[in-house]
Amino acid sequence: MADRDAAWAAMIKPAHPHDSAHLHVSGAAYYADDVTEPDGMLHLAFGQSSEAHAHITAMDLSAVREAEGVLHVFTAEDIPASNNVGPVAKDDRLLADGVVVSQGQPIFLVAATSQKLARKAARLAKVEYEKLPAFITAEAAREHQNLIEPTQHMRRGDAKAALDAAQHRLSGSFSMGGQEQFYLEGQIAVATPMEDGQVHILSSTQHPSEIQHLVADMLDLTSADVTVEVRRMGGAFGGKETQAALFAAAAALVAAKTGKPAKFRADRDDDMVMTGKRHPFDVRYEVGFDDTGLLNALSLFLSSPCGATVDLSPAINDRAMFHADNCYFLPDVEIISERLRTNTVSATAFRGFGGPQGMLAIERIVDDIAVHLGLDPLEVRLANLYVPGRDVTPYAMKVADNIAPEMIARLRKTARYDERSKAVDAFNAKNRVIKKGIALTPVKFGISFTTTHLNQAGALVHVYADGSIQLNHGGTEMGQGVYVKVAQVVADVFNVPIETVRITATRTDKVPNTSATAASSGADLNGMAAHEAAMAIRDRLTAFLARSHDCAPEEVRYTPEGVMVAGGLMSFGQAARSAHIGRVSLSSTGFYATPDIAYDREAHKGRPFYYFAYGAAVSEVAIDTLTGEHKVLAVDILHDVGRSLNPAIDRGQIEGGFVQGQGWLTTEELVWDDDGHLLTHSPATYKIPTASDRAKHMTIELWDGENVEPTINRSKAVGEPPFMLAISVFSAIGRAIAATNPEKRAIPPLNAPTTPEAILKAIKGHA
Ligand code: MTE
Ligand code: MOS
Repeated sequence: MADRDAAWAAMIKPAHPHDSAHLHVSGAAYYADDVTEPDGMLHLAFGQSSEAHAHITAMDLSAVREAEGVLHVFTAEDIPASNNVGPVAKDDRLLADGVVVSQGQPIFLVAATSQKLARKAARLAKVEYEKLPAFITAEAAREHQNLIEPTQHMRRGDAKAALDAAQHRLSGSFSMGGQEQFYLEGQIAVATPMEDGQVHILSSTQHPSEIQHLVADMLDLTSADVTVEVRRMGGAFGGKETQAALFAAAAALVAAKTGKPAKFRADRDDDMVMTGKRHPFDVRYEVGFDDTGLLNALSLFLSSPCGATVDLSPAINDRAMFHADNCYFLPDVEIISERLRTNTVSATAFRGFGGPQGMLAIERIVDDIAVHLGLDPLEVRLANLYVPGRDVTPYAMKVADNIAPEMIARLRKTARYDERSKAVDAFNAKNRVIKKGIALTPVKFGISFTTTHLNQAGALVHVYADGSIQLNHGGTEMGQGVYVKVAQVVADVFNVPIETVRITATRTDKVPNTSATAASSGADLNGMAAHEAAMAIRDRLTAFLARSHDCAPEEVRYTPEGVMVAGGLMSFGQAARSAHIGRVSLSSTGFYATPDIAYDREAHKGRPFYYFAYGAAVSEVAIDTLTGEHKVLAVDILHDVGRSLNPAIDRGQIEGGFVQGQGWLTTEELVWDDDGHLLTHSPATYKIPTASDRAKHMTIELWDGENVEPTINRSKAVGEPPFMLAISVFSAIGRAIAATNPEKRAIPPLNAPTTPEAILKAIKGHA
């Protein structure tokens, strides 16, 4: 055992701190707003639609133009070419062109001497509207079947017949809310006009290449004329995958029209109103099962309001379908996914990308079965896990790397689930006001972009003649540590300290045609591409050293002490210098495309994922039945990151992801009024978790198994999967509510988030 542990420890990489940790904590890290402003910088603000759906019949901007500090005002007519900031369907306008489709939508753009004056002036517009019918709620859009694309079906077998044949049958419904990304650094972009019509954009974006392409199309330039750069984001969480484009395009438009640098730093309230959030979901189901809780049939209906435009909603809703099995085999199943068009800001990517919504649905169904049969929910979970012979997903992909059963078994023991579960029941029997709940829920999350062509990455590595190394790749840094992980990969190729590798800002003029840093795949894709680039340089260096020392390439070895050549030792810098003098190129690109994946979206069948990342969590909670308040008391996590590229970073991702998931399910609530105005548009009304919401007892253990697929270091992606471990909190709260009336064999009617009102309502509904 000790030998095995030591061998495992040698295969995982060191726990280096985040490369910018010292800058983050001292305030010395440069975000876009910290870069020194050149003279004459213009500051921008949007005029926003007050209506959710309307024709603009008249727009008088004279007061805006005359306001203090205002230098320019632009409307849709000023856009030289394409008026679009949307990623796929091209239906997102930079500035409204006669019709508005959601409240807060940009209708004109003000450039002034300061952000404050720009915002102030934007309110002076006189805009007349002719209202159009608006669908604010999911119910309204559903009733009129107002959709962004046709309802999708994923099917296996005959769910209806299997339901009819089942020993037990249950139906139910519940809903879950959306979620604001609440990155600490808001949306921002700085555009600088360059010679001959070119433009440079510093953007806080997960997707520099997409901004490059959109801006080129907007200004009638080529991609080669536009450079987008991002050193780091102060958090993104999916909220800067497509949503950053609006601000970058506005800044680029002003820079191009005026010849002056322009900065758009969105005010927090504007940011919350104008940018997309997680999709809320309504869930309906009919499930058939036997006395042991074994599920035979499922008919699942998922419906989400996607907002006014398409954005990434098709892929996000697809991912909800992909994760509606979670770790469970669903023999006869139909998953129906309805994508509603509502006149609210377009919903977008948020950590998990639809996966959490699909997964919460099935975990709730499992809990429902358990309550109905009077079983411990963990028994029902275990009865339904994928096992050999029952290991094909509803989309016909074989689950070839299933470790959920082993992980659950281990966590059940280490977290003392059975003992604590009994203790919770004993506590509830004795206490009337405070009720406790405990739950163990697993996670299986598919890794890859489900749009297959996005699974590619490029890198550029330079070794300088002094032996220092510069690394560049398409991945963007949002705090998740992709830079330090990929730097480790490059340092290991040359066996040099990680400090030798200087990480450089992501730029479209260094590595072209990149995908968004998303789908948790940043380190998988860019790590492989950087590895290839570094290996190409090392092979050249090795060949040169062997040639010049008249030895075999095998006699050149890269050791922590330096480069050994035919028994002699030289520093890595000396080796690089000699290669430079020997006229050997010490720079290389690298490229990687994920193998073996393919998906037929028409049929909803194929292998959309290269592999799965797994995890399991036990959460224990207490609720106050008088006030509806709850507290997460204890959390124990076992999570699978394969052979870690950086255990410190991975732990950070697991803890942060869990707490963010906890926020989604418990305190973060989005409220719109009947006219489509977002009422929760600031931290005063929108409650994200703080340090005091994190459970006092929290343990995180990393699973000690490698990826079965040959990923970089056999590691696994970690950015999103831990988010869904927080489903254990929702499940535990449900169990605590159920304990208020233990005789009742029905699941309490609980929706997410479990605000005090929602908990009180559920208690009442369970009486
Ligand atoms: N961690 C931090 N600190 N900040 C973030 O914005 N975004 C998450 C996750 N972890 C995020 C984060 C999301 S939505 C994704 S898809 C991944 O990081 C993206 O990075 P990766 O692919 O390198 O894991
Ligand atoms: Mo993450 S939601 O894939 O940006």
